[in-house]
Amino acid sequence: MKTIKVKSPSKKYDVFIGAGILPELGIKLRRKGFAGKAVIITNPVVNEIYGNSLKTELTVAGLEASILLVPDGEKQKSLETAGMLYKKLTALGADRMTSIIALGGGVIGDLAGFVAATYLRGLPLVQVPTTLLAQVDSSIGGKVAVNYEHIKNKIGAFYQPEFVLSDIQTLRTLPREQLNNGMAEIIKYAVIRDRSFFSYIEGNMEKIKSLDEQALEKIIARSAEIKADIVCKDERDTGLRNILNYGHTAGHAIESTADFNMGHGQAVAMGMIIAGRIALNRGLLKQEEFNSLRDIILTAGLPADLTGPDTPRIIEAVKQDKKIIGGKIRFILAKSIGNVIMADDISIPEIEKALAVEDA
Ligand SMILES: NC(=O)c1ccc[n+]([C@@H]2O[C@H](COP(=O)([O-])OP(=O)(O)OC[C@H]3O[C@@H](n4cnc5c(N)ncnc54)[C@H](O)[C@@H]3O)[C@@H](O)[C@H]2O)c1
Ligand SMILES: [Zn+2]
Repeated sequence: MKTIKVKSPSKKYDVFIGAGILPELGIKLRRKGFAGKAVIITNPVVNEIYGNSLKTELTVAGLEASILLVPDGEKQKSLETAGMLYKKLTALGADRMTSIIALGGGVIGDLAGFVAATYLRGLPLVQVPTTLLAQVDSSIGGKVAVNYEHIKNKIGAFYQPEFVLSDIQTLRTLPREQLNNGMAEIIKYAVIRDRSFFSYIEGNMEKIKSLDEQALEKIIARSAEIKADIVCKDERDTGLRNILNYGHTAGHAIESTADFNMGHGQAVAMGMIIAGRIALNRGLLKQEEFNSLRDIILTAGLPADLTGPDTPRIIEAVKQDKKIIGGKIRFILAKSIGNVIMADDISIPEIEKALAVEDA
């Protein structure tokens, strides 16, 4: 097991990453001084595989455990579902010492985290992420939210957990597309921050794809560490945290033009290619480095080919993106693998050019 120490200004906490560590949740809670009620918030898919045994283990550890279910899917990140959970927490007699266990992917983490942040002005929260994306991204950094009037994450808070427990064995039941979503973020971390991590992923892709536990533990821990480092330096998202948007400016646009029928990881992969080409065209990034980026994306099973997307609609969507500043668009660009800069002056023709070129 690896432990990453998150030292955010508002709270210090641990991220535990290891194979088969889910049954240790009860002991870890007790060690933190939680002895009363523990409410697991999850969905039927995750509950079926992990929920009931976790509840039993918490009970054995001496906690008064219960499970609250919400249906699966992004739609549940809503005030309505949060309201339903407040009602159920009231019925359970939840008090300030009741811990909320967010067991699931990023949807559950964001929703349960939002409920924990707001009910009784804050209940202790433990993130137990069960998707690769949630283990490397959404469970770390304290952003919790629900969607509102079709705007993602419009209502939310910064609310750090007591700890994060990532059992990599839970990834065995995760569909391939969901693994790909996480892989895109992992590649992103390597490109923005760590050349040797990038080389490790390159050299161990087959192991990673076959869910080799050692390789997974290593890449999840390093990703968590990179994210933790960035968010701790910019807890409330006013500067450095921007670099986490690498591949996401164009990625979000592609996602929205595909009417959200495309996996987030696929869109981010294409977004990284677009950002890569802009950097290449500006003479910032060397051709060999761009090729390495393209190859790692392809070997991960993600798309690097931009022939599919509808260029005018993507440009339209990029223009509507909130990051537009005075007609110019902000992109995070790689200068080399492991090193990015924030460019606030990307023009529409540059994006068009990046979208138009075919890869050799
Ligand atoms: N808070 C943040 O900083 C942050 C960062 C990135 C993304 N997010 C949010 O995360 C959400 C996406 O999260 P996600 O990609 O984890 O999607 P998700 O939570 O919808 O999970 C994907 C699917 O996998 C299923 N699942 C989860 N764990 C499983 C397991 N171990 N075995 C089998 N199936 C399992 C889920 O039921 C779901 O159907 C979005 O709402 C996004 O806004 C938040
Ligand atoms: Zn993302």
